[in-house]
Amino acid sequence: MIELAPSILSADFARLGEQVQAACEGGASVIHVDIMDGHFVPNLTIGPPVVKSLRKATDLPLDCHLMIDNPDEFIPVFADAGANWISVHQEVCRHLNRTLNHIKDHGCRAGAVINPATPVETLTEVLEIVDYVLVMSVNPGFGAQPFIPSTLHKMRRLAEIRRQRDLNYRIEVDGGVGLDTVADVVRFGAEILVAGNAVFGHGDPKKNAEALLKAATEATLLKV
Ligand code: DX5
Ligand code: ZN
Repeated sequence: MIELAPSILSADFARLGEQVQAACEGGASVIHVDIMDGHFVPNLTIGPPVVKSLRKATDLPLDCHLMIDNPDEFIPVFADAGANWISVHQEVCRHLNRTLNHIKDHGCRAGAVINPATPVETLTEVLEIVDYVLVMSVNPGFGAQPFIPSTLHKMRRLAEIRRQRDLNYRIEVDGGVGLDTVADVVRFGAEILVAGNAVFGHGDPKKNAEALLKAATEATLLKV
């Protein structure tokens, strides 16, 4: 099943509740929240207080994408603030198995994220315990960057491994997903589609979400 997870990074932060509501009316079923620390990625965004406010503004699951150097320290804080899903980058986790279990122990779904330069094989040993794998299709740090097509094969590979090993993690894609790229990511196996600029960057988030979901669904029907 295809799900749209709008990233609030490109939303108007002064009207966040309203914008999230509009995306929800357009069919979004998860809200993607980008947490950046200025160390792991060259940008700063938001922290637990905003997650706490969002929690009051929507019933949709909050998908917190931690782009921070020390995720272990912050997992309890984000879980308490109301995160439902928490994903951590393979590149910063020295003990990835422990960190993923830590997320689950806090009652959240656990995701592992790989940057464009990180191979799927770095996750081989944790695929049994992840609830989802997030394939970055841009280098994390900013919204509205162009999609990197060489990341597509990783979505297909993850779908293949899931079949071969009879696992059930979900495959999420993040970065540069828009009307021009959505069909490709769906054809290659992505199921949870993060989109920031394409939903909140211009016009009406409700209409933008509807259009993206429509294009994604059409691509699913054409999938062989
Ligand atoms: C990038 C973030 C993304 C970003 C996606 O570092 O992780 O979630 O907001 O934005 P778009 O869809 O604009 O590429
Ligand atoms: Zn993200």
